[in-house]
Amino acid sequence: MALRAIAGKKTLALGLVFSPCAAAGASAPGMGLGLRQARGLVTFSLPDLPYDYGALEPAISGEIMKLHHQKHHQTYITNYNKALEQLEEAMAKGDSSKVVHLQSAIKFNGGGHINHSIFWQNLKPVNEGGGEPPHSTLGWAIDTDFGSLEALVQKMNAEGAALQGSGWVWLALDKELKKLKVETTANQDPLVTKGANLVPLLGIDVWEHAYYLQYKNVRPDYLKNIWKVMNWKYAGEVYDKEIA
Ligand SMILES: [Fe+2]
Repeated sequence: MALRAIAGKKTLALGLVFSPCAAAGASAPGMGLGLRQARGLVTFSLPDLPYDYGALEPAISGEIMKLHHQKHHQTYITNYNKALEQLEEAMAKGDSSKVVHLQSAIKFNGGGHINHSIFWQNLKPVNEGGGEPPHSTLGWAIDTDFGSLEALVQKMNAEGAALQGSGWVWLALDKELKKLKVETTANQDPLVTKGANLVPLLGIDVWEHAYYLQYKNVRPDYLKNIWKVMNWKYAGEVYDKEIA
């Protein structure tokens, strides 16, 4: 795990800031993500949302967005940073047991940070183009791989509704096969845990904290409405960059 930038911290920081599509990887960069460096360790800070908390209403309430961003995402970041610092100490001491022990906290909290950083980008207010269907290359690929946009939405909604417990449903690009796929991940596992070739184009958070205050236990209604504020432009840009 490249917690320290072997080639130099500056190189890593530049990669984080200027490489949006590396969101598929472990650093979820280019999404308003801030960095701070403590004792040479690269840690993370909460990225700003690219819209106001209430801007996605009525699809997603401002109350949910504020809590989700300020409390849930922040907690993942806080715990991720804590685990990274502990890992650095354990590595410096050569404490292999501790290094292994920390892996689950890093996966869960680092995954939470990666996933939410993507999720905020996946949403857009209606008056800024949220919900507008994908055009050109991504639109054609969806038709080829799923039959139609409606069929894709139906598949993602069905898989999201059926996912037991907490997790995510993804529209992914398999870079090697140049094919779109729908995948789900449990808990805060990022998409990369399902395959290193998978790039997240859209991820939908199906944890109860993402919808319960507004939709109570009716996850299918949340899934139905989230498409009204989906940022297909972002998905199309990631697709075009990765498929080139
Ligand atoms: Fe969440």
